[in-house]
Formats: sequence, C-alpha cells, structure tokens
Amino acid sequence: MARYLVTGAAGFIGRSIAAALLARGKQVRGIDNFSTGKRANLAGLEAMEFIEGDLADAAACARACEGVEIVFHEAALASVPRSVADPVATNVNCVDATLNVLVAARAAAVRRVVYAGSSSAYGESPTLPKHEQMLPDPISPYAVAKLAGEHYMRAFRRVYGLETVTLRYFNVFGPYQDPTSHYSGVLAIFCRKMLAGEQPAIYGDGEQSRDFTYIDNVVEANLLAASAPAEKVAGQMMNVATGKRITLNETFRILCGLTGFKGQPEYAAPRSGDIRDSLADIRLAGELLGYQPRVDFEEGLRRTVAWYRTGAGD
Ligand code: UD1
Repeated sequence: MARYLVTGAAGFIGRSIAAALLARGKQVRGIDNFSTGKRANLAGLEAMEFIEGDLADAAACARACEGVEIVFHEAALASVPRSVADPVATNVNCVDATLNVLVAARAAAVRRVVYAGSSSAYGESPTLPKHEQMLPDPISPYAVAKLAGEHYMRAFRRVYGLETVTLRYFNVFGPYQDPTSHYSGVLAIFCRKMLAGEQPAIYGDGEQSRDFTYIDNVVEANLLAASAPAEKVAGQMMNVATGKRITLNETFRILCGLTGFKGQPEYAAPRSGDIRDSLADIRLAGELLGYQPRVDFEEGLRRTVAWYRTGAGD
C-alpha cells in the first residue's frame, strides 16, 4: 500500500520530496503529466510507483489517492509569466487540479494533504517581511490560482475534516530545477547561461529582491508538515523560506564568482506581473513545525552551480 503520494513527482520540488521519502524507506507513489516535469527527473526514483496522469482527470486522481495516507501536492504550472500568457491553462493546472486532488483525497480517506502554496499570494504590499496574518493581494493569474488552492485546502479542513497544511514557498531553487524554459526560475536560468559563458538578462534594474530558498529547506519543511500533530497544523498556512533577501544584482555578482562568468548582464524591460521585493517572516513555521532553514543562500547556490556544472540540467 502506497502511504505517500507526491503530485508533480517528475518536477523539481516533487522529485526532491519523493527522493527524500524513498531515502527514509517510505512507500511512495508519484503522479505527473510531464507538462513541465521531465522523465529524466525520475532517474534514481525507481522504487517509487509512478502513474503518468493528469490531475485535471478525476479518475487519475482517484487512482493516485488509493491507499494513500499523506499527499504532497506539488503539481502546478509554476510560473508568473506563463500565467500572464495563458491564464486559463494556469487555472486548469493549479485550481481545477487542486480541487480534484482534494475530492479524491477525501474519497480515499487520505489523512493529510500538504500543499505547495506560493509567496506570490502576498502581492505587492510594501510591508516586509511578509507574515501570514497579512491580507493576500495576488497580482498575477498564477498568484490568484495558487491562493485559490489555499482556500480550498482550508475549506476541506473546515467542512470535511481533512488535515490540510499549506506551505507558502518563497522562490525555491536547487538541483533539478529546469533551466531550459524562459518560464524557468531566475537562478536556474542564470546558472545555466553563466556556466555556458552566455549573458543573462535582468528584467528591470536588478534591485528587486527575493527570499531565495534552497530546495533542501523546502523538503525538510514538507517532511515536518507531514508528521506534525494535527492539533498544531491542520488547516494552517505558513511561510517556508530563509528569512533573508538578496537583490538580483548581488546574486549576479555571487554567481560570477561561482561560475567564472566574466561579462555583464543585459538589462531589459521589467516583467509584467512581477513584484519588487519579497522577504518572509518564518517564525510561524518555526513554532508550528520546528522548521529552521539549514542551508543558507550562498551554500545552496554553491551546490546548485555544482549540479548544473555536471550538465544534468540540460
Ligand atoms: C514567483 C513567486 C513564487 C513562485 C514562482 C514560480 C513571488 C515573490 N514569487 O516568483 O512564489 O513559486 O513565481 O515561478 O511572486 N528574472 C530576470 N531574468 C530572468 C528571469 C527572471 O531578471 O531571466 C527576474 C524576474 O523578472 C523577477 C525575478 O527575476 O523579478 C524572479 O523571477 P522568477 O524566478 O521567475 O520568480 P518570481 O516571479 O519571483
């Protein structure tokens, strides 16, 4: 019997959670439709039972949830600009898919669903750091869709008693993040380009800042969220980040040192739907989960560059 289901298991965050579960000897099932996930990411996860299926398909969700105790719902079309280009696809893959997962989870008597929320829910309010009591203010279709998923989580807790936990991720990066699409996260793109000696583009003046969070911290937060007592975490939402922010310009300079890139970035027009600054208050995850970021930004970046240097991301 599969005890854990990871949705988006061929994607960056899903495959990282699945690998950590397998390393702990857990029984794991994964589902992915390969819309953005990659078959190559399944290498090393052979012990995982894998279903190729789409979460927009209720029957696939039902099959995936059978015999499962805990779901990590990571599947999404994770990109702000992609949602600006095609808001309907983002809605189908983030909102409809999340509702289908919850309906199937309830029907299969799953105990807990841990959901990948997004810091984009905070939007543009100038208050820093962002804390969980702030009113959401989504400014892109992606942010709206991820926030809708959070509301569904809470509703399923309230009306059906399902244990749901939302982790609002802040700009996750690390090995296995796809660097090949222009919808990819900025650090994946920068690592790949700068290692290849190509000039990266900075949208805007580069003084925008992010609370970039190394993948291992996010995996650990998920494992803690799966095992924390229900009376502490069920129905809750909390930030998962490092609690520090850095500008793109500073990040570029650090990456020059790590990659040996000698050129300058190309500055281009700011991106529509972008927010300026992002920084998390991470005290709540500390209180509820005992979460502390263990890998800081620079160490995470070193490990990430080392991984892209192997060519594994291509
Ligand atoms: C947003 C969300 C995050 C979500 C992620 C999914 C916020 C604060 N965060 O991240 O929760 O999981 O989307 O994609 O809203 N940039 C460049 N050059 C590039 C690529 C990007 O300068 O080649 C810039 C962007 O314009 C942006 C920053 O880098 O200012 C970060 O972009 P990106 O990595 O796409 O993530 P966010 O949009 O911040």
